[in-house]
Amino acid sequence: MLSSLVAGYGHAFPSRIVTNDDLSKTLDTSDSWVTSRTGIVTRRIAAKEDSTASLGARAAENAMAAGQCAANDIDAIILATTTPDHPMPSTAAKIQSMIGARKAFAFDVQAVCSGFIYALSIADHFIKGGAVKNVLVIGAEVMSKVLDWTDRSTCVLFGDGAGALLLQAKETSDRGEALPIARGVLSTHLFSDGNFYDMLYVDGQATSSNPCGVLKMNGRAVFAAAVEKMVESSELALAHNQLQLNDIDWFVAHQANKRIIDAVAERLGIPEEKVIITVDKYANTSAATIPSTLSIAASERRILPGHTLLLSAIGGGFTWGAAVLKW
Ligand code: COA
Repeated sequence: MLSSLVAGYGHAFPSRIVTNDDLSKTLDTSDSWVTSRTGIVTRRIAAKEDSTASLGARAAENAMAAGQCAANDIDAIILATTTPDHPMPSTAAKIQSMIGARKAFAFDVQAVCSGFIYALSIADHFIKGGAVKNVLVIGAEVMSKVLDWTDRSTCVLFGDGAGALLLQAKETSDRGEALPIARGVLSTHLFSDGNFYDMLYVDGQATSSNPCGVLKMNGRAVFAAAVEKMVESSELALAHNQLQLNDIDWFVAHQANKRIIDAVAERLGIPEEKVIITVDKYANTSAATIPSTLSIAASERRILPGHTLLLSAIGGGFTWGAAVLKW
């Protein structure tokens, strides 16, 4: 049987750091309000020369370097993004050109902040079906271009960045003998409910008269739904794999708000020391939060080979989901 192993990881952020104090110079907000309500201290904001494609390409190149995989050996590029560079063609195609992965097929996935779990699930199914060997699964966003920088209830929450995993098809049995432990993506679980469409959305349409809008959000409703749905999908993922909480080494949740992550971890019974937090430094980078957090924690040698990870996310739509990954 084929499994999707994590063969490489990478992340990339714009260099410009914007603090809460920086924001409070032009906005009626404060460091203490933002920190206490969200855990966010700083975020990275794209410069003119940064784009979703350029950040995604840098993260992808880092993942290929870590996995010692040449661009020519990449079979597929799946980019999760809600901030594509253009309405068409896909930003994944631009990344393909930038990294020189000539053999690959490439496309975008739009599931907002759950996008990476969706992309991971698609990649895993392609690999398990035997269609591809090396897949780049990328989450990349320039959220700053869809924010209303005069709306203090939304603009303080988001940032720009990218993360990528290189997934590689591996036989789980070696010379006919089953490996002792399953590795790679163990399962993914996806959900949507379009009845929540207007809880979190970007207004405007991809038309010449109204090319792009700004993000609108019912913060309290999103908060409540996030906790409920991330807990539900995480419990389902654990049960599906017959795992107990003790079996989980790390909980890597979508980094929207530290209070949401803390509440989910508490409801699940996951201790603080098993929860990875990057929202303090990078804020909510939508589809990029989970892959960049995985890459950062693996670079710091917190996540190690053999560790079992529970991933969970929620995003506009609503879309949500969970995954279990053996690193
Ligand atoms: N600085 C200062 N005050 C702010 C503020 C800011 N940046 N943003 C909002 N406020 C004010 C509000 O205007 C409100 O003032 P009022 O009582 O005079 O009307 C007050 O703070 C409380 O607002 P409230 O909405 O009750 O705050 P909250 O405790 O619910 O926190 C969020 C607001 C947005 C931080 C919180 O709801 C949240 O994190 N929601 C989830 C958002 C999210 O993660 N979305 C993405 C999911 S993928």
